[in-house]
Amino acid sequence: MEPHTGYGQTVAKIILFGEHAVVYGHPAIALPLTSLRMTADVTPTGGTRQESTLSGLGWTGRLQAAPARFASIARAAEVASAFAGHPDAGLHIATHSDFPPERGLGSSAAAAGAVIRGVLDAFDVPATRQEIFELTQQAETVAHGRPSGLDAVATSADTPVHFQAGQPTDLDYALDAWIVIADSGEEGSTLETVTHVRSRYDADPAATTVVLDRLGAITGEVVDDMRVGDIADMGARMTEAHHLLAGLGVSDDRLDAMVTAAVGAGALGAKLTGGGRGGCVIALAEDEDSAHRIEEALVLAGARATWVHAPQPGTFAGEGAR
Ligand code: MEV
Repeated sequence: MEPHTGYGQTVAKIILFGEHAVVYGHPAIALPLTSLRMTADVTPTGGTRQESTLSGLGWTGRLQAAPARFASIARAAEVASAFAGHPDAGLHIATHSDFPPERGLGSSAAAAGAVIRGVLDAFDVPATRQEIFELTQQAETVAHGRPSGLDAVATSADTPVHFQAGQPTDLDYALDAWIVIADSGEEGSTLETVTHVRSRYDADPAATTVVLDRLGAITGEVVDDMRVGDIADMGARMTEAHHLLAGLGVSDDRLDAMVTAAVGAGALGAKLTGGGRGGCVIALAEDEDSAHRIEEALVLAGARATWVHAPQPGTFAGEGAR
């Protein structure tokens, strides 16, 4: 078949529990936000790789001249083209995202995954889930250094994922709670916070290990909470995890204020999600009314955008960009 415009799609994700600890082999739980999509249309141009162009995510122009934050997209196009047997193909890539970049919502992995799928579709080359994961990881390495793989898995999932030591497992439990997601409006750099935790670990392995071990244990306890539907305990573990992450130095004043505001407005618990120091917080609510009260409190505490994730997988009760 002749090359044609290929299409790739991924979704945003939140990490419910286990960010940073997952880099050290502990378990984590992530939730794909299936209503917040990233798409890529990829058209082979007949030109060379150097002439490839990107439009979307705030950049229009030659891919090779794009700012550093697009390096993982360029790498995604490169590794997928090589996999497809067209390493020198010129491409036009048009992306669209329903969610902001650099906020801990998995934008870089989602963009890489969508572009990889788009390239493979354009050249009609099939790939297994594992092959697409490995290609996404190659692109993510440019953005994150040594990514755990959690973002690459979660942005391609459609159910909650338990992830440990590179191994994803689908979690079949229904999460009977509402989740409010609030964007601080500040960009966070996962590479920077992962590097920060690494330097703390190198400077004081014993103390840092205690914190990472507890974060890992919390994830295990939450799997039990999910099994029996104990959302009150899950909420308490969420707030505990936030304080542990803050102790590791990956929170900031605005994230702390948003967590305090959410808990003050009746959240069962709240925490930062993803790399931290900017990005988003998540809060657990027992019902829809509570979720909206928490949303209002988060906006008063400085949230620039909020989303409310309803208990049924894949449904969003609303989105408010402010
Ligand atoms: C970033 O979304 C999650 C981190 O745990 C990094 C990683 O898993 O590679 C902070």
